[in-house]
Amino acid sequence: MPYFLHDVTHELVRDLQRMIGIDCCPMSLKELEEQLAQIQSEAQSSFSQASSSSALYDQKVFFLGKNGTLTEIMKKMAGLTKEERPLFGKKVNEVKSALENVYSQCEDSLKQIELEQQLQKEELDLTLPSWPRELGHPHPIHKVTEEIFQILARLGYSLRTGPLIEKDHYNFEALNIPQDHPARDMQDTFFIDGNHVLRTHTSPIQIHSLEQETPPLRIIGTGAVFRCDSDISHLPHFHQIEGMCVDKKVSMADLKGTISFFVQEFFGPGLKTRFRPSFFPFTEPSAEVDCSCPICKGAGCSLCKNSGWIEIGGAGLINPKVFHAAHIPYPEWQGFAFGFGVERMAIIKYGIPDIRLFPENDLRFLRQFKK
Ligand code: DAH
Repeated sequence: MPYFLHDVTHELVRDLQRMIGIDCCPMSLKELEEQLAQIQSEAQSSFSQASSSSALYDQKVFFLGKNGTLTEIMKKMAGLTKEERPLFGKKVNEVKSALENVYSQCEDSLKQIELEQQLQKEELDLTLPSWPRELGHPHPIHKVTEEIFQILARLGYSLRTGPLIEKDHYNFEALNIPQDHPARDMQDTFFIDGNHVLRTHTSPIQIHSLEQETPPLRIIGTGAVFRCDSDISHLPHFHQIEGMCVDKKVSMADLKGTISFFVQEFFGPGLKTRFRPSFFPFTEPSAEVDCSCPICKGAGCSLCKNSGWIEIGGAGLINPKVFHAAHIPYPEWQGFAFGFGVERMAIIKYGIPDIRLFPENDLRFLRQFKK
């Protein structure tokens, strides 16, 4: 048999190992194969006895890991001959893949058991009642607007809306508030540009309706309005409700009758309505509307400042100039209009001390309007 340098080296290594006392008796192929078989059967039994997937994994590291038993036995191949080494290497690989198979089978069944245990532990009772969910409800401003609308709808009024950004023409000009007229100072306006404003009132809805519809008309316009004003009784963003009636023959008596009916329906029976002469450019004559205080029924309290009366809005007969601007023939058609602040109506009806509570949206406040 030829004697190669490799074998010489190999023998030298063996001699050296013997001299320095490590692995002084290298194993024969047979011995190594026996040891391999033993490792295989030990590994198999510890894999199948592992009680959890993590314990199983530890066993895998012990037998098949980088520094595991199989790696160790591979190192011992150094003691074999050149012909024996590939034979043994092949065996080790076979054992390794056989053990990996056993491992993955054991792992599958352990994981399955663990999953079942976990599912049992976390068992869901779908018949249990769920957490109670709090239902929302309309904001008091929405609620009051709706209430006002429901009352006026019974008198034949129907709802209209309009844009929040209005042309100067609709917010002022067509309502008989010309440029540089002192009446423009009555409302602190937010200007968008030279020709557009955030509407300062819902009265422009009257003009849109007069332009787009044919009388007779009974309309209510509602929505947000904006004024550069803020204190305990004023908000820069608040809501108005606008009423307009256009018909063949309309008088102050019709207006008064409508508002009296509304006041009694909204605040309660028996409440009186009174008109005080006033000025609005779009009505002639104009009136400021008061009702007897719904809190003290006219006896005097802090809400009505002991006067027994409370102001709720403005009203009047539609100024012929407004009809003219909207190309409606006057006096063939005549009309009345009125405007109320929604927040103000809510404050009076519910005795709310501060108008700023409405936009704050504190749930403790809002929840009181649930019903
Ligand atoms: N637009 C007025 C304001 O915001 C309120 C008003 C007064 C409306 C008289 C009307 C009315 O329709 O006739 O101050």
